[in-house]
Amino acid sequence: MRKKLTIIGAGNVGATAAHWAASRGLADVLLLDVVEGVPQGKALDLSQSGPVDGFSVAVTGSNDFADSANSDVVIITAGLARKPGMSRDDLLAKNVAIVKSCAEQAAKHSPNAVLIVVTNPIDAMVYTAFKVSGFPKERVIGMAGVLDSARYRTFLAQALNVAPRDVNALVMGIHGDNMLPLVRLANVAGVPVTDLLSADELAAIVKRTQHGGAEIVNHLKTGSAFYTPGLAAVEMAEAVLTDSKRVLPCAAYVEGEFGFSGCFLGVPVVIGDKGIERILEFSLTGDEKSAMAESEAAVRKQMAATGL
Ligand code: 2OP
Repeated sequence: MRKKLTIIGAGNVGATAAHWAASRGLADVLLLDVVEGVPQGKALDLSQSGPVDGFSVAVTGSNDFADSANSDVVIITAGLARKPGMSRDDLLAKNVAIVKSCAEQAAKHSPNAVLIVVTNPIDAMVYTAFKVSGFPKERVIGMAGVLDSARYRTFLAQALNVAPRDVNALVMGIHGDNMLPLVRLANVAGVPVTDLLSADELAAIVKRTQHGGAEIVNHLKTGSAFYTPGLAAVEMAEAVLTDSKRVLPCAAYVEGEFGFSGCFLGVPVVIGDKGIERILEFSLTGDEKSAMAESEAAVRKQMAATGL
């Protein structure tokens, strides 16, 4: 019996996620959107690439949440995206209502699903989905760290002229300017980057990573990134759908880990078929702890603004 993946939002991120998921043959994919015709047209187009790409999963589009019933994973991408000059926080008021509705419907039609939230500001939106769905914390996960770490790894690989897949690097904390790309632990096949790049080079890469989303928004002008955000959400969904125990940086609900409680923060987690199996906690330096505290403060400000 094939697994079922529902992607809410057939915009750039959602449609790209559907593409990556179908191409990997992960599950039957349902693309949902409120705009009549868009999910149906994009899904039909994508389904017709099956004979060329080689996948056999079904890809369908709908405007009816009932069609998403009994999904194993629901990815929420619906909401407004940034324009140049906007912060992710600027999206909060509009997107909280959208995510509330999506989470309510997802919980109603797929009570055993794992929710993966992509909509920005992600740390507040995943909190919204958690509160509204009533799901246990392990089944509500925010997509950010996989994206931010992918950017961080890309920039390090470019600086070192090495294969990006051989760069291991972790970004924790909020999905925002205060995010924490960890320099101390970054390595190339085990070789510390601090032995390969100067402090100034590393500081520049950290800063570029922290503003990686805005860099793309400023190029595109009409929206934000979607290729890697879409793939990052699928990477997380794949870990659930295949029970692979992948260790991925995600926005997870912390209850004491790293000294924080009662909010979502980007931390390394083990993901299996029931969602987050555990958070991999480790000791932080003083500076890293301060950076995470700044992240937490920014997340709590966003949480308060949701009114939940
Ligand atoms: C980004 O960082 C859209 O927040 C997403 O590109």
